[in-house]
Amino acid sequence: MIETENLAKSFGHKQVLTDINLNVQAGDIYGFLGLNGARKSTTMRLLLKMIQPTKGTIFLDGQNTDTLPAIFWNQVGYLIETPHAYPNFTVPENLTMYAQQRLIPAKEIAPRIKALAVQLLLTPYLDVKTKALSLGNNQKIGLAKALIHHPRILLLDEPTNGLDPESLVAVRRLLKQQAKQGTTILISSHLLGEMEAMVNRIGILTQGQLVRELSFDQFEQERHTQLAIDGVSKDSQLAAFLTEKGLRTTYQQQELVVSGVPQNDYGTLLHAIESQGFRPTSFKPLAENLEAFFLRQIGDDQHVVHD
Ligand SMILES: Nc1ncnc2c1ncn2[C@@H]1O[C@H](COP(=O)(O)OP(=O)(O)OP(=O)(O)O)[C@@H](O)[C@H]1O
Ligand SMILES: [Mg+2]
Repeated sequence: MIETENLAKSFGHKQVLTDINLNVQAGDIYGFLGLNGARKSTTMRLLLKMIQPTKGTIFLDGQNTDTLPAIFWNQVGYLIETPHAYPNFTVPENLTMYAQQRLIPAKEIAPRIKALAVQLLLTPYLDVKTKALSLGNNQKIGLAKALIHHPRILLLDEPTNGLDPESLVAVRRLLKQQAKQGTTILISSHLLGEMEAMVNRIGILTQGQLVRELSFDQFEQERHTQLAIDGVSKDSQLAAFLTEKGLRTTYQQQELVVSGVPQNDYGTLLHAIESQGFRPTSFKPLAENLEAFFLRQIGDDQHVVHD
């Protein structure tokens, strides 16, 4: 649904994006991950034709965007970095002006604004001029603009900036619902916990290169898991026993942490430990979360954390 072939961008002599081959499929919620300056926003601007590529081709819905008719862009919704709203107008006034530009039939505008206000928890602020809104509520106007014309393709760059936990849940619910109805969503965010709860595919961008693209299922299979074993009085003997079995052990906050055990073998291992007379009080898997996986993929895994 959103594909690129060897997409590249230079500013003057400086190449900022190198041969990006994105593949976002219909109905995906695709998490576009990268550190500050990885060129996520630049890529999204290219996809939206806000800037021109130096090289490469972009396909939306299988069509080369160089030859797309202008009307096609009505199927695309976007929020790129900081949203803009007219400060002296209220939320519905702003959204009405935008909806008119998007050619939404007049009688549909008010109900759509109302529905979005409910979904985005904006109803208490409908009479407020946008200049008096908080950061998070302004961000929600940006989201409402991206969604008001029921786009089939959504490009959201850091859409959850400044949102409180309740709003994060509301936005997650709304985006999942959109994807279920067939909207394809490309979303960049630094909130990797938030992404983990939402995406079904992941692309990792680092220094203008797409270093990984994988499904959420692949991430779950590839992520490292470890076992933390606690409550054994003779830790060192247990560690020796496990080392003998070819497993790597370390200590983390007094727990014995074992690496290299496939998930299917947990039961067998626990049984083996107990049959040696060890009686652990806790035996728990530690799965690498998306943040730790991401840092490992970009080669910055010295601060790895686990759920
Ligand atoms: N107009 C431009 N002229 C020159 N360099 C540019 C231009 N636009 C972007 N860049 C380069 O791209 C980098 C920023 O890329 P971009 O904003 O796409 O990153 P990002 O991944 O969106 O980062 P963040 O997470 O901070 O939003 C800049 O540091 C600069 O090197
Ligand atoms: Mg950015």
